[in-house]
Amino acid sequence: MLYIKNLSYHPTASQNPILRQINLQLGAQEMGLIIGRSGSGKSTLLEIMSGLAAPTTGELRWRNQLLTPANLQQLAGLVFQFPERHFCGGTVAEELRLGHPEITTDQIQEALQEVGLGQLSLYASPQSLSGGQQRRLALAVQLIRQPHLLLLDEPTAGLDWSMRQQLVTVLHKLKQQRSLLAVTHEPAELLAIADRCWLIQGGQIEAIAPQELTQRLKVNALDPFNEVQAAAS
Ligand SMILES: Nc1ncnc2c1ncn2[C@@H]1O[C@H](COP(=O)(O)OP(=O)(O)OP(=O)(O)O)[C@@H](O)[C@H]1O
Ligand SMILES: [Mg+2]
Repeated sequence: MLYIKNLSYHPTASQNPILRQINLQLGAQEMGLIIGRSGSGKSTLLEIMSGLAAPTTGELRWRNQLLTPANLQQLAGLVFQFPERHFCGGTVAEELRLGHPEITTDQIQEALQEVGLGQLSLYASPQSLSGGQQRRLALAVQLIRQPHLLLLDEPTAGLDWSMRQQLVTVLHKLKQQRSLLAVTHEPAELLAIADRCWLIQGGQIEAIAPQELTQRLKVNALDPFNEVQAAAS
């Protein structure tokens, strides 16, 4: 179980805090979904949760253990937005081995199978894969490290409908063995597999039941924040 308690983030370069008093809990085998508009602090929160930045105040715990950024780098795997833009291996195997030369071919196959790419040639160029395959390869890159917490920044962005469905199916399977936390401004498909949801606005989060969010999206498909319109209908 991951606990975040009273977490705030206020880098000196920023006039105002970017994250304010974040509290959340996420269980093993749960998928959390944080929904917010551009600039609301989603990616910043993931950077802190993956140990790339340290919070200004507050704490993160895994069960009873207080987590330092170094602990978080071990525990969590972050899939950036548009991860395929950062591919630099010449082949699928090279991409998966980057930073982990000790990894065996069996481990590579296992990671690819987990994301439904078991049939893929290890010698294929990552650039030659479809958009959906590239997104799943980026997941496999993180799975190689066997993180307990998989963090996903806008995982469905830029994918067409069928690729988004495929990805959601893979994520549903992946959450059976770890915790998942995705941030997005387009929650429609991911909501189907979310156990906990939060809205983030101006760096503050507010828990919302997935069923309530589903209702709100039905009323106002493009903007779950617009409570006025939701309430008026
Ligand atoms: N290191 C930093 N110093 C100053 N300001 C920052 C820093 N990092 C992020 N910000 C600001 O914090 C706010 C939140 O940024 P963040 O990238 O987390 O938003 P986001 O919700 O991921 O947006 P998007 O949906 O566009 O990806 C923005 O206003 C951004 O300009
Ligand atoms: Mg972002």
